[in-house]
Amino acid sequence: MRQTVHVPLGARAYDVEIGPGLIEDAGAFIAPLLTRPRVTVLTDETVASLHLERLRAGLAQQGIAMQALALPPGEGTKGWPQFTRAVEWLLDQRVERRDIVIALGGGVIGDLAGFAAAVLRRGVRFVQIPTSLLAQVDSSVGGKTGINATHGKNLIGAFHQPSLVLADTDVLDTLPPRDLLAGYGEVVKYGLLGDAEFFDWLEGNGPALAVGDAAARVEAVTRSVQMKADIVARDETEQGERALLNLGHTFCHALEAATGYSGRLLHGEGVAIGCALAFDLSARLGLCPQEDPSRVRAHLREMDMKTDLADIAGDLPDADGLLALMAQDKKVMDGQVRFVLARGIGSAFVTSDVPPDAVRDLLAEALAAR
Ligand code: GLY
Repeated sequence: MRQTVHVPLGARAYDVEIGPGLIEDAGAFIAPLLTRPRVTVLTDETVASLHLERLRAGLAQQGIAMQALALPPGEGTKGWPQFTRAVEWLLDQRVERRDIVIALGGGVIGDLAGFAAAVLRRGVRFVQIPTSLLAQVDSSVGGKTGINATHGKNLIGAFHQPSLVLADTDVLDTLPPRDLLAGYGEVVKYGLLGDAEFFDWLEGNGPALAVGDAAARVEAVTRSVQMKADIVARDETEQGERALLNLGHTFCHALEAATGYSGRLLHGEGVAIGCALAFDLSARLGLCPQEDPSRVRAHLREMDMKTDLADIAGDLPDADGLLALMAQDKKVMDGQVRFVLARGIGSAFVTSDVPPDAVRDLLAEALAAR
């Protein structure tokens, strides 16, 4: 059932291995990368209690010794204090230029550990072992690393590609259902942005995937990673096409800011709602068929996912307040908010040419429906 997706980036090329049991077999995949049989691992306390000893055993099978630092779980870790702690710890472990750092965790750990690897001794190699669906299909692949600033999320960072990604799909069995479905928001995003046939497949197989169909999980992760790899290979540093991966994210970032980056709205939930809004906006502007937004919503609803602003508990700002939050998005260029819109399911494009009134009206109606 295992699959390999190659990310063809010349000297920075690497493989993403996808399938069950990869943590147990990690030593066999990592040994060829090592010049001495030891690695350091950055993880979080929750992931450590679930998976760290399996990783230790998997590495030991190949005679590889492992030292690990478990940081507190949660988005709050992704800032200077824990980053400094991680880098100092790696230096304490005498990590050398040719060693490997392993990121064992979700997006927070992957981004922080990748950034630590990017700056440690001006760059050491690292391996991603993503333990959330979101990290497996998105954040562990493509080399975006970094931490949050008081000014906003992911504002400090570097492009630093991993040397290997091991996406062990068995770990998905340990995820709370809400986290799994939030990660699925990013999976749906891939179908919507670039592969209508994949979206059809998700409509048919998403429900089985959600309740544990292992083969469907491997297939969904593989197709998502393949699409990301193709896009990253063409546009590694997001000069153009890579921005398509931000479908739903302009709305999502405003909603995350409005909800204080709290448990009220997980990132993947915001992406799903943002995708539905992006299709609404595309239909209103006459860009995509009028029935597409309903089809997007129908699938999200069938998956029991957050789909509309009405699914977000508590107060939200008014439409102008949300527009103001969008104006702070990282993708703003020359003062223009950039949106990823669609000409249909599987056919997204980036544009700054969106009348603010159309966005305001859409948000006002979505807020009124709460
Ligand atoms: N998560 C979007 C990207 O990697 O470009």
